[in-house]
Amino acid sequence: MTRQASYSSGYRDADETDVVSLTWDGHPPEWLEGSLFRNGPGRYDRGRVEVSHWFDGLAMLHGFHLSPKGVQYHSRFVRSHDFRVSEQEGTIASPGFACDPCRSIFRKVASAFLVDATDNPNVSLVKQGDRFLALTELPIPMMFDPETLRSRGPVVYNDSLPPGSTTAHPHQDGKALYNQVLHYSGLTSYRLYTQENLKERQEFARIKVKEASYVHSFGLSEDYVILTCCPFQVAPLKLLVRNKPFIHNFEWKPRHGTRFHLAPRPGKKAKQLTLNTEPFFCFHHVNSFQQNGKLYVDLICYPDADIIHQLSLERLRNDRAIDFGKLRRYEIDPQEETIKRLWESAHCIELTRFHYTRCNTRPYRFLYGVSADENESVFYDRIKKLDVSNDSALTWYQPGNFPGEPIFVARPGSTEEDDGVLLSVVLNGEKETSFLLVLNAHDLREIARVNLPVAVPHGFHGLFHREFKDTE
Ligand SMILES: [Fe+2]
Repeated sequence: MTRQASYSSGYRDADETDVVSLTWDGHPPEWLEGSLFRNGPGRYDRGRVEVSHWFDGLAMLHGFHLSPKGVQYHSRFVRSHDFRVSEQEGTIASPGFACDPCRSIFRKVASAFLVDATDNPNVSLVKQGDRFLALTELPIPMMFDPETLRSRGPVVYNDSLPPGSTTAHPHQDGKALYNQVLHYSGLTSYRLYTQENLKERQEFARIKVKEASYVHSFGLSEDYVILTCCPFQVAPLKLLVRNKPFIHNFEWKPRHGTRFHLAPRPGKKAKQLTLNTEPFFCFHHVNSFQQNGKLYVDLICYPDADIIHQLSLERLRNDRAIDFGKLRRYEIDPQEETIKRLWESAHCIELTRFHYTRCNTRPYRFLYGVSADENESVFYDRIKKLDVSNDSALTWYQPGNFPGEPIFVARPGSTEEDDGVLLSVVLNGEKETSFLLVLNAHDLREIARVNLPVAVPHGFHGLFHREFKDTE
């Protein structure tokens, strides 16, 4: 039996790190200049309250400014309202994902769960125009300075979309950003919108549902937005009368199956439709594309929603094993209104990235993500490159190390889909510190790494920005 190294040091409370200059071990390509930003929970202790779920830690941004000379690293908490209340009052400001709200907070929740809910943007990052934004599942993005990581305040929308939950995984296609707001009411609906400037969103489709599903991401193809509603659901009115943390209101209802809602993108003549298939749970869509009249939707699937409970801090801090996701492809025929599962990968994979600017909404071949050995691993402990044309895979694996989402960075001027590097922040479970790893995306060979003086807490998603240069 292989001894399993501990991954739990990535779930301790972290302190901010001032800028440190670090040198490369190895030789990164000359063209690799720019900034990698990471987002994720960095602190769980709120004074008198300790949150109980990974998804409720306070947002911490990490900046890695890369040049051939070396890397400058720093980290900083997002100065959200939640952060200030934690610092000044030693408690939580509002109900988060799985936080226990107190009665006074719950009164506010009754008006609509998410009007006063957490503004702690600890999930992902996006660049919109010249603004860098930290996102969570509420439509309250926080702007930040890419050089200092200092918070620049929340985005305040000037439009008529109602409050609700959203996804931290907007799609970008050209200038337009796509996302949705789930408005809870007696007539609950997902409001799909596009956005071309920071403050105004234009609704273009509405999907009405009786029960709301937990939706973490969605798909985008040439003609459609694909909203996948797994049977992890809540009757909206129950949110008004139950005094439970947000996610504890949701129930696994496999008899409902999974609903794929297809809504035509603005200007497309396709029709809106809903197709029902087998029950499964998913956080992440991967890519969607149309070919020969069919629509292909790739997602990372779990048999049920138990993974949410497995990601509680009590379990993660005790190195408990979690379930691993698998890539699955559904084929939809919009004319015949049919859906079928086409295949499922043999490999575990999550937190995936691909060559987005080249392949989003188009056929693609290579997918990169964190992975695991289904029988031996307790946590994601390797990086895989999946060839979705034949389900073959390459692996980077060093026992006792726990990599985060690998971000693909294309070589300038490249013509091949996998000509570039992967950047991943890896926790060394034995040393209890992290390193930034650079892999050749073609063969997953290690090119270089930079050892950090701290452990970067396990996070979620990040962003590479090529144009931002080290100004030293
Ligand atoms: Fe995510």
